[in-house]
Amino acid sequence: KTGNVTLDPGFVNTASCESTITFIDGNEGILRYRGYPIEQLAEQATFLEVSFLLIYGHLPSQDELSTFEGKVSNRMMLDERMRELYRCFPRGAHPMQVLASGVMALGSFNRDTLDVHDPDQVEAASLRLIGSMPTLAAYAYKSSVGEPFLYPQKHLSYVENYLRLSFGTPQEEYEIDPAVVKAFETLFILHADHEQNCSTATVRMVGSADASIYASMSAGVNALSGPLHGGANQAVLEMLVKLREEGVDMKTYVSQVKDKKSGVKLMGFGHRVYKNYDPRAKIIKGHADELLRASGKSNALLDMALELEETALNDEYFIERKLYPNVDFYTGLIYEAMGFPAKYFTALFALGRLPGWIAQWREEHADPSRKISRPRQVYVGETERNYVPIAER
Ligand code: SDX
Repeated sequence: KTGNVTLDPGFVNTASCESTITFIDGNEGILRYRGYPIEQLAEQATFLEVSFLLIYGHLPSQDELSTFEGKVSNRMMLDERMRELYRCFPRGAHPMQVLASGVMALGSFNRDTLDVHDPDQVEAASLRLIGSMPTLAAYAYKSSVGEPFLYPQKHLSYVENYLRLSFGTPQEEYEIDPAVVKAFETLFILHADHEQNCSTATVRMVGSADASIYASMSAGVNALSGPLHGGANQAVLEMLVKLREEGVDMKTYVSQVKDKKSGVKLMGFGHRVYKNYDPRAKIIKGHADELLRASGKSNALLDMALELEETALNDEYFIERKLYPNVDFYTGLIYEAMGFPAKYFTALFALGRLPGWIAQWREEHADPSRKISRPRQVYVGETERNYVPIAER
């Protein structure tokens, strides 16, 4: 099943599953969705086209794509009562907490799927999740800044709707910028799937218990929120802003990172699988300069990031450990230039990753031989010993 790829026994023993969705060669920096190179998809496809590819396994015909887009568009509007849910959160609630709750609540308001083995119910819930996620994410942002919620509009595309729901207000029409729309199509495609990363493995593990698809996706959002995972895009920007405020030069910072006692990590660097440049980071870096100039934002933070990368990639510590920029190193600069606050960046990652989570969850359920995920452990605790009454302790 692995074609001409020879897997060493060690790899096979640690592999959590077989999958046909995403291929990564960490040494060569290769990423393909259903066999298509990420570079081609990022440049030529739309996010919904790639979502279709990940979920159904083939690139859609124009008819298939139009039908899929229509079904998704019909599910962008939330049950009106969900607005009350958002109003219950304190203003400072982290958007990932709000988003994880919103995804879980979606299942309550739309009882699409009670039976995870009913393909029609799973299909209904998949479309519901894809359609509702931009609205759930945008409302998480709007509630954090205390602005009114808008409604999705049928004549807008998926990404256009998302940007308008996030930045539009009832006072004036939101002006759609095609360059920004294209940038977000590309960014969401680059985040759409990444084989068995922490959050996707979580989605598959929760799904393996026959828990609802909503519970599995909400678990994925929570796993992704960790700063070592999707939360790194927020941590990278906070790192650069702190360095600028404190006037720390890049060489000094790299020395602090190398001094283990500092506990400082170069956020946005390193990867469990990539021991080469993350192909997604390469594409995002290429767009960052162009987008920052278009947004009129100062490139000071980008220049810092470029200098930090240059310093690290020429340093023995990073070279020995094969630490390169990952997908999170440059994304935050673009999100910030587009007007999103740093604490919101990971919600953008979740919006992009959703179709991959859905495809992986469905693959888990499609395998008739699958069992509930139940990892074992190596016990290294106390050997047997007898209870001691408290008076004698
Ligand atoms: C994502 O899995 C995926 O596919 C995830 C993801 C996806 O699309 O789903 O690609 C998205 O999560 C990207 C990663 C985002 N996280 C960060 O940028 C946080 C910073 N990076 C590190 O925390 C770390 O690199 C990880 C968590 C990403 C990977 O950690 P590993 O594989 O467990 O590597 P490790 O901790 O074993 O590191 C090996 C060595 C160690 O040094 P030594 O013990 O050998 O002396 O490299 C060092 C580490 O200390 N190291 C770093 C470092 N990353 C690793 N040192 C400084 N800065 C870093 N960023």
